[in-house]
Amino acid sequence: MSTAHRGIVILDYGSQFTQLIARRIRSNEVYSQILPFSASEEDVLASRPKGIILSGGPSSVFGKSAPGLPDWFESIDIPVLGICYGLHLLGRYLGAKVEPSNVAEYGHTNVTPCGQSTLLAGTPEKFRVWMSHGDKVLEPSPGMEVLATSDDCPIAAFAHEAKGMFAVQFHPEVHHTEHGENILQNFVFNICGCERDWSAGNIVEEKVAELRKQIGNRRVICAVSGGVDSAVTAAIVDRAVGDQLMCVFVDNGVLREGEADSVRKVLNDQLTAPLVFVDARDRFLERLKGVTDPEEKRKRIGKLFIEIFEEVSALKGPFEFLAQGTLYPDRIESVSTFGPSVTIKTHHNVGGLPETFDFELVEPLSMLFKDEVREIGSALGLPDVQLGRHPFPGPGLAVRVVGEVVEERLAILRQADKIFIDGLKSWGLYDEVWQAGAILLPVRSVGVMGDARTYDFTIVLRAVTSTDGMTADWAKLDNAFLQETSNRIINSVSGVNRVVYDISSKPPSTIEWE
Ligand code: XMP
Repeated sequence: MSTAHRGIVILDYGSQFTQLIARRIRSNEVYSQILPFSASEEDVLASRPKGIILSGGPSSVFGKSAPGLPDWFESIDIPVLGICYGLHLLGRYLGAKVEPSNVAEYGHTNVTPCGQSTLLAGTPEKFRVWMSHGDKVLEPSPGMEVLATSDDCPIAAFAHEAKGMFAVQFHPEVHHTEHGENILQNFVFNICGCERDWSAGNIVEEKVAELRKQIGNRRVICAVSGGVDSAVTAAIVDRAVGDQLMCVFVDNGVLREGEADSVRKVLNDQLTAPLVFVDARDRFLERLKGVTDPEEKRKRIGKLFIEIFEEVSALKGPFEFLAQGTLYPDRIESVSTFGPSVTIKTHHNVGGLPETFDFELVEPLSMLFKDEVREIGSALGLPDVQLGRHPFPGPGLAVRVVGEVVEERLAILRQADKIFIDGLKSWGLYDEVWQAGAILLPVRSVGVMGDARTYDFTIVLRAVTSTDGMTADWAKLDNAFLQETSNRIINSVSGVNRVVYDISSKPPSTIEWE
């Protein structure tokens, strides 16, 4: 945890927007960290924050098991901003009249500031905000100043300057709220006095120093897949303790066309550490024989990966540390907001390492979001083509060959996928989409080629736009591009006579078909 950058701690009360608050603050070059609302005073103050934000949350302060303010709250002397549920908590704490409401206010509304205030400085007479709440603060308590009202809320924002407490009923972190960024900046800079001293790029040296201290002269093993997260993890550990690091890359037989070679080459050029390459194509295909259930495919692939990893470390070890590309969202998702303890999903990236693995974890990216990891990768000199790579699932093409995974079908899929991806690149569309790939359906249909009847497989093209993969929209690709891709696939990939484009969004569909 960084104490060099004194930023903002966000106490998470379970809002779906908590991560967004952190991102908005970090995008202003101020460090921000999310902790569960039940965090201890020691944990919260460890990074010497200059302010605290209480997030929104799904609870009502009148609920039986409603999460409250921490018991150490009284003793802190840094500014606090409550957002939505956080406003209700502060309102109650300050003795204001808070009322439950059976009808939730959800969506856009207008707020009207009541004169000048530091928190709302720079906002106009009226602006649109995004609300999502049931309870309301109806009347202020002594010392509390009403900063804004809305159509539905007599108190849409308040301040208790003497106690350094501020609150907004709406969500300044969502982009539907006008001037939301301005309001957060007012809190962070004008009220808390934070400085712009944090950026993903300039923390590389800091991380390297931290890793050297943590690892000492012991050895580290790192599984690399060619993806951005593991490549950046390996690069940063390599820079810290290159001669004590060993990277392992497993060809599991369900990679894309030419991928094993290109990843090997890129990693070899990049790392000073040795790269162990394991060709396990036959072993994976053997394990997948006869399996059609998607979950079973994933489980078998994950299990074999672990076996191979264990074999390598038994042969080349001992290794005291395992480096993983765990990102901040992986950690946050695994933090139980309402649970008594914070459980971290330590095995996220390598498909579920068994508990018996006696490694200490090295997770240099665990405080970063994906776009920040790309920034770090860029600062470390990783090529743009590697940093801009689309996400690719761990189980690879095994979850894109619907039904049984056999080499003949993989070969068909690889060719179609290559045509699609190469086409996206040459049409300048690759960077426009979050992720793209082809899927092979085990469905045959009738076609006609020349004068002959064909009865062949169907290829699905899937391309989506997204910011984090949690939700996604199908990409509105140029029809001319789709037409060209379809023609090229049908004309050159033997075994395919039909190409369809997937126009489903997530939710309710998912990005991968299995
Ligand atoms: P879905 O299909 O759930 O995918 O919409 C969301 C994102 O996650 C990727 N994905 C995976 N990544 N191991 C991974 O490393 C997996 O088992 C896995 N399954 C899905 C998917 O490609 C998309 O980016």
